[in-house]
Amino acid sequence: MIKDSNYKRFKKQMKSKITVKQARLIVFIIILPVAFVLFSKILAYVNKDSVTAQQFVDLQQGDSNFPSFRRAHAKGICLAGIFESNGALGQYSTASVLQAGEFNFIGRFSIAGNSPTAPDLKAPVRGLALSIKDESSTNSEWRIAMNTPPVMAVATPEAFYAQLQALAPDPDTKQRDPSKIEAFFANHPESKTFLEWKDGYTPASSLAGETYHSINAFYLLDEAHNEQAVRWQAVPSLESSIIPQLNQENPDALQDQLAQMLEVAPIKFDLVFTLALPEDDETNPTVLWPSTRETITAGTISIQQYTAQTVGECANINFDPLVLPKGVEATADPILRARGSVYAESFRRRALEALLGENE
Ligand code: HEM
Repeated sequence: MIKDSNYKRFKKQMKSKITVKQARLIVFIIILPVAFVLFSKILAYVNKDSVTAQQFVDLQQGDSNFPSFRRAHAKGICLAGIFESNGALGQYSTASVLQAGEFNFIGRFSIAGNSPTAPDLKAPVRGLALSIKDESSTNSEWRIAMNTPPVMAVATPEAFYAQLQALAPDPDTKQRDPSKIEAFFANHPESKTFLEWKDGYTPASSLAGETYHSINAFYLLDEAHNEQAVRWQAVPSLESSIIPQLNQENPDALQDQLAQMLEVAPIKFDLVFTLALPEDDETNPTVLWPSTRETITAGTISIQQYTAQTVGECANINFDPLVLPKGVEATADPILRARGSVYAESFRRRALEALLGENE
């Protein structure tokens, strides 16, 4: 009797186990694939307007691709020097290069554009990139890429992609279409501050005389992980009298002038940080913070040497602004977040070409 009831219970259990198994099979074979397809479709719909790193780099490199060179800011010159930190930001950040001391950097002056042979004096934007390291500490490297404008024209990668499309020359005529550009800016009123800056901007008579801006904002973090949103700028500390005359006909006028200047003395910039207040938006690179905000000079960038970019150390550095030391973090600014993957794609292409010996 006892045996019989056990058997019945066993049979019942088996029945229910088979049912669970079947249910799992149904989930694996039918429901999961259907859910996956549905999820992918929803994701594709949500991201239908987003732009990939590959699309960005395709557009930036344009039709004439220069193998082994950067796809943006292709023309540049490698630099080396010392960041003399005065420690004034030490209370806001644990970053070792912000404590008082001297730290080596590798840097690069550049002009915007996809051509490594473009005439220096025609470029609308100039850049200064740095990789500052405390050799005695891990997680200390800070990669910085700054440009001459203080703001972006637009606030999202998608809008920036559209801006690049509007500015791209026609493949046949090789000319820009002014009506496209006008329409783009008319549809993007957030570009007002950028356009005002552009209208009032006169390029400095040397790379050493420009002010270079982080544009995007970052957080400084102290021991207790308190966040302070900041932007910074490299401000030239230069006697105008020592700037040699520019040769307007020379396509390498700025680089040659820089070489002449460095024969005489280091070129210096103050690294000046602007501290945001809670009401300032750190995620929108089109908006300037009020000029009344507190500023702190963190130290002096002293450029001592230059090398051609084809042989200098800067060639192998991807100045990805998301490579940050402990004590500095990225904000949620979508442009800043997008830069990491786009720079990586540009670096991937040029590093592969360099490895395969594909030079111009
Ligand atoms: C979504 C916006 C941006 C995109 C897609 C973009 C794209 C790129 C790419 C593809 C490179 C070449 C990277 C390499 O191969 O090493 C580059 C370099 C550079 N970018 Fe950007 N960029 C953006 C925003 C900015 C901003 C806001 C700044 C300035 C604050 C900036 C400053 C620079 C500088 C200075 C370089 C040259 C770095 C060097 O000398 O190697 N970029 N950018």
